[in-house]
Amino acid sequence: MSFSGKKILILVTGGIAAYKINTLVRDFVKENAEVQVLMTPDAQKFVSALTLSTLSKKPVFTEFYGDNGTWNSHVEMALWADLILVAPCTANTLAKMVNGLCDNLVMATYLSAKCPVFIAPAMDLDMYQHPSTNINLEKAKQFGHHIIPAEHGELASGLIGQGRMSEPHTILEVIGKYFNSKHSQLSGKKILITAGPTYEAIDPVRFIGNHSSGKMGFSLAKEAAERGALVTLVSGPTTLSIEHPNIKLIRVTSAKEMLTEVMEVFDSVDVAIASAAVADYTPKVVAQEKIKKNEDSFTIELVKNPDILKTMGQQKKHQILVGFALETQNEMANAKGKLEKKNLDMIVLNSLRDEGAGFQKDTNKINLITKDEIVTFDLKPKTEVAKDILDAVEARMENK
Ligand code: PMT
Repeated sequence: MSFSGKKILILVTGGIAAYKINTLVRDFVKENAEVQVLMTPDAQKFVSALTLSTLSKKPVFTEFYGDNGTWNSHVEMALWADLILVAPCTANTLAKMVNGLCDNLVMATYLSAKCPVFIAPAMDLDMYQHPSTNINLEKAKQFGHHIIPAEHGELASGLIGQGRMSEPHTILEVIGKYFNSKHSQLSGKKILITAGPTYEAIDPVRFIGNHSSGKMGFSLAKEAAERGALVTLVSGPTTLSIEHPNIKLIRVTSAKEMLTEVMEVFDSVDVAIASAAVADYTPKVVAQEKIKKNEDSFTIELVKNPDILKTMGQQKKHQILVGFALETQNEMANAKGKLEKKNLDMIVLNSLRDEGAGFQKDTNKINLITKDEIVTFDLKPKTEVAKDILDAVEARMENK
């Protein structure tokens, strides 16, 4: 991860976690960032300006006025920064930030800034859970600020709970991903992803489903969001959850519901990826009451479900459309057939014959097929497979 040329303004406020800022500043500088540190008066009780100044290789400012009548311009520093990080952010500073209070150099600089703001809160667990802190964090999110949530663990009070400032390496990673996302072709683009299985009701207690866990689709959604895309994730029933400011999760049950949600947004997206395992057939009639076991055999008449991906293919205009093919035999021929029939730009082939691939697993093994080429990948975690798929999508966007 390189922060070469990035100007990072770190606003340190008065909490015990301030001692971790020494490590953070050292790590940012090691990665070639230019770091300017400002501190509140209380922060200086927890960590020394001299240490931070030595590590950042710049003077650290704590007051509006320096010696010899000099002025530490909050406006200049705010406009200099590519990014502001408030860490640790106490409950007090958070409350001031969302209410526009301006009683020290840190607050005046924050209020003068136009760049992205990241907040790493740190406080005792009851303070972190207090409704007013929750409201203030929500308000900060509404301002467009990025929250790096506090972690669970032992706190300075001796209590155990959520409130510890995120570790420096986590903060570094979050900010690194943010800068990377700015270079991505997907940054600011809209992407639709389908995930998970569909359940087709037989009666009020039974359904036809499949083994999809949603892991592949959720990994794609997370990776796309981290690259700066605005993601609509339409998922069938799964135990997974996902929280990211760029992801809107819509939960559905049946193929018909999935089709409705997908077609609601398809026209407006730049990319659509169908990783859901959609049931091809659904019961013709859904019994209103639980079916009793009277007979020795029992027949359910099934009718074809709509093909969601094919419908997208028929209505495709500017979108890049990516499908999946889950096969058990004649893999390549079947996948190529789907690429053509469904009017796709790319199809991701995974086969249940490959150890570690397909349903439920944390890993997958894929071939990426376009009309011009086939690229074969090794078995990898689904989080990495998502990167390979999105790299290929980005390459296509670049050439479009
Ligand atoms: O969820 P996991 O446990 O992580 O597992 C991931 C996965 C195995 C489900 C995933 O990698 C995968 O292969 N998804 C596609 C499964 C599938 O239904 O494949 P298919 O070959 O039957 O369908 C071809 C394509 O048409 C798929 O993109 C599918 O989403 C789409 N389709 C199929 C039928 C239908 N009625 N509507 C569709 O949109």
